[in-house]
Amino acid sequence: MSFSAEWLKLREPFDRRARNRDVLDAVFAFCADKPSLTIADLACGTGSTLRMLNPHIKARQHWRLFDNDLSLLARAPESDPPRLQVQTVPIDLNRDLEMALDGLLDIVTTSALLDLVSDEWLERFAVEAAVRNVPVYAALSYDGRAMLSPIDPMDEAVVAAVNRHQRTNKGFGPALGPDAARAAVARFKRVGYSVVSGEADWVFGPNDKEIQFETITGWASAAREIGESALDVAGWLSRRHELIEAGRSTVRVGHLDLFAKPPLGMR
Ligand SMILES: C[S@@+](CC[C@H](N)C(=O)[O-])C[C@H]1O[C@@H](n2cnc3c(N)ncnc32)[C@H](O)[C@@H]1O
Repeated sequence: MSFSAEWLKLREPFDRRARNRDVLDAVFAFCADKPSLTIADLACGTGSTLRMLNPHIKARQHWRLFDNDLSLLARAPESDPPRLQVQTVPIDLNRDLEMALDGLLDIVTTSALLDLVSDEWLERFAVEAAVRNVPVYAALSYDGRAMLSPIDPMDEAVVAAVNRHQRTNKGFGPALGPDAARAAVARFKRVGYSVVSGEADWVFGPNDKEIQFETITGWASAAREIGESALDVAGWLSRRHELIEAGRSTVRVGHLDLFAKPPLGMR
């Protein structure tokens, strides 16, 4: 599954606004007393988590950015020594997760990844993090909630179809999709972590036309791919596009953020 740099750029400001403040505060509190930090960002895309966290962390930072898409890695921020060192690493996280977690590491971050992974991979992630006693900040996992206004009679069917599509294989086995966020909280608690979590919803107002257009068009493709009637979906898409064009549409998309910390005394 590939993600375009244009799409990641379009969503970044909405992601930034959506990130849960309590979860961010817990991340910053963890980072506060460290003179230097090594951070592994899994499925980094073009580095949005680095751009978000870096200005708020006083410590010298060494970021290891992992992704399997070379064209996204090529757009990652550059090092700005001595405060910021950036290393990009092409990797298939399905195959080589452990390699990304090996070595000296203070914290693992990821955003918009967990809804793509399988239950098996998620368990592997939690166990491998726990073995290394490393905290995990996982942001922006889609949680299955999608609210559109004004309501269209077909919204519910399309959102249900999108959620079924979310559970198909995205390269890590059958994806957890909308169940990922809550499953991740449970998995980390099971390996003894304390977890701070909270909603991190995208909120698209009537003037956020481009991201609404892209999101709704993506949902229509997913609904068609998973078997909804092409004719019905086309009708829904054209009604929703008209509302967006007219500046009458708002969309809220549910996400969950979490910060999971190893048991007291271990970190
Ligand atoms: C929704 S994007 C999120 C990117 C970035 N974290 C952000 O928030 O902007 C998902 C990312 O996962 C990466 N990805 C998907 N499957 C992967 C795999 N098997 N190994 C490594 N990266 C993968 C994609 O290339 C993409 O950058």
